[in-house]
Amino acid sequence: MKNYRVGIIGATGMVGQRFATLLENHPWFHVTALAASERSAGKKYGELMAGRWLMKTPLPAAMADMVLLDASKDIEKMKELVDFVFCAVNMPKNEIKALEEAYAKAEIPVVSNNSANRGADDVPMIVPELNAGHIAVIEAQRKRLGTRRGFIAVKSNCSLQSYVPALHPLKDRFGLKKVLACTYQAISGAGKTFETFPDIVDNVIPYIGGEEEKSELEPLKIWGHVENGHIVNAESPAITTQCLRVPVSDGHTAAVFASFEKKPEIEEIKKIWAEFKGPAQELALPSAPKQFLHYFEEADRPQPKLDRDLEGGMAVSIGRLRPDSQYDIKFVCLSHNTLRGAAGGAVLMAELLAAKGYMD
Ligand SMILES: NC(=O)c1ccc[n+]([C@@H]2O[C@H](COP(=O)([O-])OP(=O)(O)OC[C@H]3O[C@@H](n4cnc5c(N)ncnc54)[C@H](OP(=O)(O)O)[C@@H]3O)[C@@H](O)[C@H]2O)c1
Repeated sequence: MKNYRVGIIGATGMVGQRFATLLENHPWFHVTALAASERSAGKKYGELMAGRWLMKTPLPAAMADMVLLDASKDIEKMKELVDFVFCAVNMPKNEIKALEEAYAKAEIPVVSNNSANRGADDVPMIVPELNAGHIAVIEAQRKRLGTRRGFIAVKSNCSLQSYVPALHPLKDRFGLKKVLACTYQAISGAGKTFETFPDIVDNVIPYIGGEEEKSELEPLKIWGHVENGHIVNAESPAITTQCLRVPVSDGHTAAVFASFEKKPEIEEIKKIWAEFKGPAQELALPSAPKQFLHYFEEADRPQPKLDRDLEGGMAVSIGRLRPDSQYDIKFVCLSHNTLRGAAGGAVLMAELLAAKGYMD
């Protein structure tokens, strides 16, 4: 049985709370330290979160009396307490980059939900079912940082977490050429609830800062290949997106159009989705969904309210696959943005890294 001591940096935030909940009864990972800004440092988690706890399940009892550390000042203390950390903080990008590097250089591996280090070609951005092989670049990163075990691994943006998995098993087989994706993103992705974001009720906001750039660029890193210890981004497919904020609490939906070198048959695609498995399933990682890609035949699915929690919020739901007049095919897909799209995806990535010995 694997057994690791884990810290959560940004434990007071929306994603941090999700980490706390997911790790409460985790078979391999045990939370031994919580950290946030100096505003929270020195206070007990339970007291600090009174009136701020946003999860549907109560704050984990075993964490209530844990005293928050200062994420920047207490790195040496963290080193005594944890084997690795999850990190999700709201800070300027350059400060996040420096913070995550400081942890890695202190020999504490960092599994990050932040975007600050996603662009580096020796920092793997892993969806365990799709590109587990990118783990190999950690050796080059350790050389750059001068570390023995410390490294940074990152989670991709939540917007692409539904359509990239759906397109992945079709990409090489049929030569994916062109993708158009419109995303309908939940308010929890902005760290908000209906109480804290009343302007979204009866409304759609057609702008999410930086989201379209990430949604178009990050898939090319995930689909990139490893060359001399570095990730070389894929050059295709051509991807264009529009990302909208909609009045949904959790669950990002995407309406997707795609064209291929060799047009696949509709029934062939459904069979490929049904049979698709990756290392997360093969290694039976604790948070892996048994069936990653679920296809719904019902014409009005998937829906966030009905389908976001499928397989603990770790599966991708797909529906409405049909031929298109301008592209080869179109379909709709959905993934839970704070589970598979954020904390759950990071926990699954950490499980993969642990299974491969990178946390030892
Ligand atoms: N797909 C994904 O991976 C995904 C999805 C959603 C969000 N995110 C990213 O995750 C991060 C957190 O998002 P969120 O929605 O959880 O934000 P949030 O609810 O605003 O929480 C922010 C957290 O950052 C901490 N923080 C702020 N300034 C800090 C500092 N100077 N030093 C240490 N900690 C500091 C806060 O601590 P205090 O309470 O002490 O201020 C809090 O714990 C963001 O970078 C966001 O972009 C990623």
